[in-house]
Amino acid sequence: MAEKKNKYSVLLPTYNEKDNLPLIVWLIVKYFTESKYDFEIIVIDDGSPDGTLEVAKQLEKIYGKDKVVLRPREKKLGLGTAYIHGMKHATGNFIVIMDADLSHHPKFIPEFIKKQKEGDYDVVSGTRYSGDGGVYGWDIKRKVVSRTANYITQILLRPGASDVTGSFRLYKKEILEKLINACVSKGYVFQMEMIVRATQFGCRIGEVPISFVDRVYGTSKLGGSEIFYFLKGLLYLFATT
Ligand code: GDD
Ligand code: MN
Repeated sequence: MAEKKNKYSVLLPTYNEKDNLPLIVWLIVKYFTESKYDFEIIVIDDGSPDGTLEVAKQLEKIYGKDKVVLRPREKKLGLGTAYIHGMKHATGNFIVIMDADLSHHPKFIPEFIKKQKEGDYDVVSGTRYSGDGGVYGWDIKRKVVSRTANYITQILLRPGASDVTGSFRLYKKEILEKLINACVSKGYVFQMEMIVRATQFGCRIGEVPISFVDRVYGTSKLGGSEIFYFLKGLLYLFATT
């Protein structure tokens, strides 16, 4: 089912992902090529000390500048602003946001696209907390933190999505721009704010169950301070929306 007019820009934020990047890019290319959708991959590396950018340059050579687009920044400026930076350079009319550490499997991208078409959704959100979705490989502490964050967000803000902290999503570009302009948060809490704003703006949100598998290479950049910022963001949204 080839569609000429649609183009999907995949935003891949990276910080110390040199071991994961070749495989994730290979898989993204594979699934887009198989499903015949037009795409580009935008890598936003934040000056990773492990040499992720050097690896990305090799991939740019292999797949071509039109498929692997490098938009690095000098230093680690956070996940939220990395998406904003990447989106500015996106040429697609749809944007896919995902992690680069293989926790989000590119095999779900064609499912997101199919879902989007089914209901002309503004946002398709991958969910670990509905249907066949799930989390694999996390310790109990991380599971509790994620579940609790989702649970209290559901109670306080009633978002129209079952996974508010997940970051595997497909957006119409103009909707993403609108949401980003409305968002105040910069770190990991950004994901939650985006979906809450989407509900607030009356966006049509579709969901696709995904399995999130904990990374094999490298480490998570989510620290205790992010939990604090999440709660702060949650209370801010509760007070203002
Ligand atoms: N450019 C850039 N700058 N990339 C970053 C930064 C940053 O400051 N911080 C993290 N990343 C990249 C990582 O390299 C990875 O590709 C992705 O963002 C996710 O980072 P992880 O450190 O792997 O996050 P996680 O696995 O702990 O958290 C995941 O689950 C959370 C909720 O359960 C992510 O999907 C989060 O977005 C999500 O909120
Ligand atoms: Mn991760």
